[in-house]
Amino acid sequence: MVDENLIKSNERVKAHGEVFTPKRIVKQMLDQPELVESLNDLSTTFMEPAAGEGAFLTELLRRKLSLANRLSTDLKSYEANAEIVLSSLYGIELLEDNVEVLVMRMYHIFSQYYFQAIRKWNGEGSRKVNSSAMTIIAANMQQGDAIKKNY
Ligand SMILES: C[S@@+](CC[C@H](N)C(=O)[O-])C[C@H]1O[C@@H](n2cnc3c(N)ncnc32)[C@H](O)[C@@H]1O
Repeated sequence: MVDENLIKSNERVKAHGEVFTPKRIVKQMLDQPELVESLNDLSTTFMEPAAGEGAFLTELLRRKLSLANRLSTDLKSYEANAEIVLSSLYGIELLEDNVEVLVMRMYHIFSQYYFQAIRKWNGEGSRKVNSSAMTIIAANMQQGDAIKKNY
């Protein structure tokens, strides 16, 4: 894909092996039958130990929130299901700037799907739901060294 930035600089590639996975490959990998099966459960837990900007976590979040939408019967149940989803995704990333992007991307996706749910059930968004979403995401996306287990 020419419009995907998979590398930020040659220095970062050399120093940290920072090469992001193309969306197409992420989708192919998450389409493996065993994973599709486990993605039918909102609470199945995933951890990306060298998360970068969340190539896998962001796609997992989209798929799980889409399932949450299908399984929910009203806005309240969607909010509860979305909280289960957020609580099931974890990331560790060495570089602070990547963690910041990762957290913002996860929150942005959460907000997009929450907005869809608000429209679907003709409800009202809750500030409390938004702020607990951000709290969970920030807690679960940790800056640290996944090899030295220092996080
Ligand atoms: C090959 S990239 C993959 C990023 C992401 N998983 C993806 O598929 O796009 C590897 C990432 O691991 C990070 N990294 C390197 N060493 C690490 C370590 N010891 N602990 C945690 N993250 C690390 C790099 O900063 C980089 O973002």
